[in-house]
Amino acid sequence: MVKIGDIELGGFPLLLAPMEDVSDPPFRALCKEQGADVVYTEFVSSEGLIRNAAKSVMKLDIYEKERPVGIQIFGANMDSMLQTIDIVEKSNPDIIDINFGCPVKKVVSKGAGAGILKDICLMEKLTAEMVKRTNLPVTVKTRLGWDHDSIKIVEVAERLQDVGIKSIAIHGRTRAQMYKGDADWKPIAAVKNNPRMHIPVFGNGDVNTPERAAEMRDRYGLDGAMIGRASIGNPWFFKQVKHYFKTGERLAPISLAERVEAARRHLQMSIDWKGEKLGVFETRRHYTNYFKGIPNFKEYRMKMVTSDDSKDVFAAFDEVLKKFSGYEFNAI
Ligand SMILES: Cc1cc2nc3c(=O)[nH]c(=O)nc-3n(C[C@H](O)[C@H](O)[C@H](O)COP(=O)(O)O)c2cc1C
Repeated sequence: MVKIGDIELGGFPLLLAPMEDVSDPPFRALCKEQGADVVYTEFVSSEGLIRNAAKSVMKLDIYEKERPVGIQIFGANMDSMLQTIDIVEKSNPDIIDINFGCPVKKVVSKGAGAGILKDICLMEKLTAEMVKRTNLPVTVKTRLGWDHDSIKIVEVAERLQDVGIKSIAIHGRTRAQMYKGDADWKPIAAVKNNPRMHIPVFGNGDVNTPERAAEMRDRYGLDGAMIGRASIGNPWFFKQVKHYFKTGERLAPISLAERVEAARRHLQMSIDWKGEKLGVFETRRHYTNYFKGIPNFKEYRMKMVTSDDSKDVFAAFDEVLKKFSGYEFNAI
């Protein structure tokens, strides 16, 4: 049984990765319905929260139905991060996650995200104080290291564990790699194999088929998989992996009707949550993946991503359902 603090997650849990502009409440709810065992919010800026910036504050919303949910925060300033804990606690998440992995220049240049991998002592101190500040389980998501020559993830994970984090998720790339090359799971396995480690070690990076998830479990011996890109437009990925674990076979392809229904619910939940304008706008990025593979789809995709009125988008879904009813998707 894998646990984050007192939260019981069964064997080899699947975690929805934090993804900016993707992991919002509607998407998290869909992933949860399809088998995600833990979901994380996109990263929320500690400085934004302290300034009470509306955009940051909105990211703290959670639905009851998506629990257990972790709110992910980033920042490098001790005072701000501690104040942030107090703000985040009011949203009553199950977990507080610290982002020590974001590779983006504007984040790392301030020493936040993966930027802190250059100062392991600060990383440890910041984490220790954050753990002391809250009774909620604190988890960390990070990368292998700053660059190939400075991979110290075994030591880093142990130090963070010793100051009280309850699990660690490791993306198998360095900051220098950004998203290039393949994720390397060997150093993550080395963290897990450290006899001093007793908290769950979750692997992340390139889990894009059920077989890869099985490899992470069976060959690398990790405690669970954190899944990002494979779930975008495919919230069924969690169910697909679990079906494969149970039967050794791939789940039958997700039908067009199920896809249209998911897109429809996604849009409706987004409108309910953010209002018509933002809901219509921010759900656009998901449609390409929901309907990936359908030939001659451009006309319909264009309607979905250019209409400002949700009625037109819903009408496009209806048209797609009629027009492509015989189309068979590939199994994942
Ligand atoms: C669109 C997008 C947004 C992301 N935003 C975040 C974020 O807010 N916080 C974070 O820790 N990682 C973020 N990531 C990184 C993912 O959580 C994950 O580590 C990475 O995509 C590798 O996993 P994958 O191969 O399963 O996608 C983001 C990735 C993508 C593609």
